[in-house]
Amino acid sequence: MWIYEKKLQYPVRIKRPNPKMAAAVLSQYGGPDGELAASLRYISQRHHMPIPEAKGMLNDIGTEELAHFEMVGAMVHQLMKGASIEEIKAAGAESWYTDHDRATWPGTGTGVPFTAAYIMSKGDPVADLVEDLAAEEKARATYEHLIDLADDPDVIDPLRWLREREVVHFQRFGEILNKIYEWKDSKKYY
Ligand SMILES: [Fe+2]
Repeated sequence: MWIYEKKLQYPVRIKRPNPKMAAAVLSQYGGPDGELAASLRYISQRHHMPIPEAKGMLNDIGTEELAHFEMVGAMVHQLMKGASIEEIKAAGAESWYTDHDRATWPGTGTGVPFTAAYIMSKGDPVADLVEDLAAEEKARATYEHLIDLADDPDVIDPLRWLREREVVHFQRFGEILNKIYEWKDSKKYY
């Protein structure tokens, strides 16, 4: 179970609406390398991990990714909130407005809906952890692309913080993969 804390993991205080940036950031909400995919991937994989440290770490990181999903949702909401119809049209966000008004929605800014096909849960601890390492690097690269596109310090600051967390997760997955190899060696069934 989870206990909800009524605050964001890191503050998001965007004052200036920017529908174009909202459409870009939305990819980290419901896109292929986004936070929803990350949390569902790790929380699903934890069940079949063979050692308690791997189960616990996937649970911890999957939980943190849910908190990032919440933060990215707040970013998208604040970037869309108060945007005028002129700003929405100038940003080319007419299709977003048609289907969702200014609402946050788990998909990409180009209208592709979230799908479980973005994630894998193979049942093999090495295969799954190697996927997790790649997922963290893809999320880091996506945050770097978003930082390149952003010009508002209120947007750049949480993006930088989120990018940093992906680097830490990559390191922790590397450590746990080594423990899985040790566990495999200790079984000596080859
Ligand atoms: Fe992560």
